Amino acid sequence: MSIRTETYTPWGRTFEEYLTMFSLTDTDLSGKILGCSDGPSSFNSELTQRGGQIVSVDPLYELTPDQIRKLIDDTYPEAMRSFHYKKSLFIWKNLRNVHAMGRMRLDAMYEFLSDLEWGKMEGRYLAGNLPIIPLTDQEFDLAVCSHYLFTSTTHMTTQFHINSIAEMARVAKEVRVFPLLENGAVLSRHVLPTIAGLRDAGYRVRLEMVDYEFLPGGDRMLTVTSDPTN
Ligand SMILES: C[S@@+](CC[C@H](N)C(=O)[O-])C[C@H]1O[C@@H](n2cnc3c(N)ncnc32)[C@H](O)[C@@H]1O
Repeated sequence: MSIRTETYTPWGRTFEEYLTMFSLTDTDLSGKILGCSDGPSSFNSELTQRGGQIVSVDPLYELTPDQIRKLIDDTYPEAMRSFHYKKSLFIWKNLRNVHAMGRMRLDAMYEFLSDLEWGKMEGRYLAGNLPIIPLTDQEFDLAVCSHYLFTSTTHMTTQFHINSIAEMARVAKEVRVFPLLENGAVLSRHVLPTIAGLRDAGYRVRLEMVDYEFLPGGDRMLTVTSDPTN
């Protein structure tokens, strides 16, 4: 199993947050979407309920709903204590306050849990680890990755980031990654060399502002396409 449960704190965002973090339009939502590292977010469940087509890939999906529920119950109080303590470090624009954020996270994670078993049977939740995605070439219109690459992968190499994004671009026509910060407020050390590496490999790479900012300065997403006409 790739998830080390003793260190894992489940933390899931909502469909509304995904809309803002990735500037998703109705056209984006009408295509086939791959959610990399969607974890316990409710994006897959909520998009499916709206008639969208989505597959999420994350090592977390090796666990059963009961195992994930226990992880949430065991770690949520400490995560909330930490947010109360550090609240002045964040921007309370999209999220009103610590209490509202906590409520939203729990609602999102319980929505995810209620969908997981059925979603696995439908093939919407696949266990997998970047930089490998167990899906075929160009199956998707858009791949998104929220709060994993750059943010949780400081200890990984730049090549891991390049390989992971190239793998997402193999499977989807367009890739969006958000946010691009490490340690809460600093541009990840991997962003600029990853952009250079992807451009050298022939990808078109852009930085775009989005209307979501929780970590100060964390209001940009990376957009990558392999088709120069896009
Ligand atoms: C902070 S959570 C973000 C969850 C969700 N994207 C959101 O924004 O609410 C990071 C996720 O990355 C996943 N992850 C860890 N290693 C991974 C890997 N090698 N490939 C893909 N996802 C991974 C974790 O399991 C976790 O669910």
